[in-house]
Amino acid sequence: MVEHSQASLPAGLGNAQVEVLLMRRTAPFIHKDAVVESRQIGEGTRIWRNAHILPGAVIGKHCTIGEGCYIENRVKIGDGVTIKNNIAVWDNVVIEDEVFVGPAAVFTNDLKPRAHLKKKPEQLTGTLIKRGATIGANATIVCGITIGEHAFIGAGSVVIKDVSPHHLVYGNPATFRGLICRCGMSIPARRAGFSCKCGITYTIKGNVVKEVF
Ligand SMILES: CC(C)(COP(=O)(O)OP(=O)(O)OC[C@H]1O[C@@H](n2cnc3c(N)ncnc32)[C@H](O)[C@@H]1OP(=O)(O)O)[C@@H](O)C(=O)NCCC(=O)NCCS
Ligand SMILES: [Zn+2]
Repeated sequence: MVEHSQASLPAGLGNAQVEVLLMRRTAPFIHKDAVVESRQIGEGTRIWRNAHILPGAVIGKHCTIGEGCYIENRVKIGDGVTIKNNIAVWDNVVIEDEVFVGPAAVFTNDLKPRAHLKKKPEQLTGTLIKRGATIGANATIVCGITIGEHAFIGAGSVVIKDVSPHHLVYGNPATFRGLICRCGMSIPARRAGFSCKCGITYTIKGNVVKEVF
């Protein structure tokens, strides 16, 4: 983790110039209108306007935290994670490396909230988003579940149970719709194995896929 300070970019730069400037940075880039209370922000991470990161949150390297995000204390975010705009990541949500969270996705941490029953952060229910998973825009993740490695949640879905690795799910409630490669291509079911154009080979048994290394 590296020290960070509020920063602003020089005025009048085009998108490409801004991109080059940001890529050269090792310290995190914190937009001047973001409120970042945590000191545990990895190098190369960018935190955009009006994001608010509470002191206990841990965010890895080379992440993007979009405009208007709110990250609570008991949150751990891995390396290379993209969290698009206006997303709240509540206590006890863990997001592993290279996860993509689409705009306005919703996490939850209490299955049966009642306004008059105040729960401590440690009593709230956790959710685990495993490495390489994608959560589509405006999807709702009901707490207490694990979304498997490289799984894909379609836009607008309501996810109420665990999603296995490389499964594509969508709908309300989200249900299994197929198998999906790291690169986003479909993995054809009903085959024993599959080599994707991206270079990854899988063994397939029913709906269980394993990468062959
Ligand atoms: C889930 C997804 C990957 C499916 O893409 P696809 O494989 O090309 O699917 P298709 O468009 O061929 O649709 C297949 C069927 O699923 C339905 N479908 C697709 N996405 C759906 C979704 N998110 N919710 C509900 N139904 C969906 C389609 O209506 C279609 O139904 P039909 O066969 O009855 O006509 C894509 O629709 C999606 O939601 N992507 C996420 C986009 C996003 O949130 N990006 C965030 C960054 S901006
Ligand atoms: Zn692939």
